[in-house]
Amino acid sequence: MKMMRRVLLPLRAKVRRKLALLTRGTPDEGPAVQEDVKRRTALRGGLIAAATTVVGVAAGSALGLARRPETSPEDSPSTGPVIAAAADITAGSAKPFTAPNGAPAYLLRPTPDTFLAFNATCTHQGCPVSYVGPGFRCPCHGSTFDENGRVTGGPARASLIEIPVKVVDGQVTIA
Ligand code: FES
Repeated sequence: MKMMRRVLLPLRAKVRRKLALLTRGTPDEGPAVQEDVKRRTALRGGLIAAATTVVGVAAGSALGLARRPETSPEDSPSTGPVIAAAADITAGSAKPFTAPNGAPAYLLRPTPDTFLAFNATCTHQGCPVSYVGPGFRCPCHGSTFDENGRVTGGPARASLIEIPVKVVDGQVTIA
């Protein structure tokens, strides 16, 4: 409020000078004159406030851009979604999860140092396969797959689709 008065008082004086009036109002000025001074002052004040806002927003944006921390691929190794903590899967076991595309999938740990993931959709006619350790079996027509997703028994002829994964800081993520 104080700041508004500081801005508006000189403006009012300027408006009054422009209208060939005394700097301070006198009691013999009619209400129409006072209203005119008030309106012109408010108009000028509004224009200044709008210009100040535009400049302030522009300056704030520039400052925000300048302060935005730079990141590079080296600073933050890009990783996909986390599937599970590596410690949560014991060697020789598997864990079901949902792939980024929404399909059911399995994460396998065939050896202590190996993690593999496969889309759990049978390549024969699309039924969901089950992990039956150490491989997979399709309940629909009996296809079987080994722990590398390769067909070990038909009618399926194609391997399960592998989902690339990696271990980052103890977390198995989509690569
Ligand atoms: S859909 Fe899996 S064996 Fe046919």
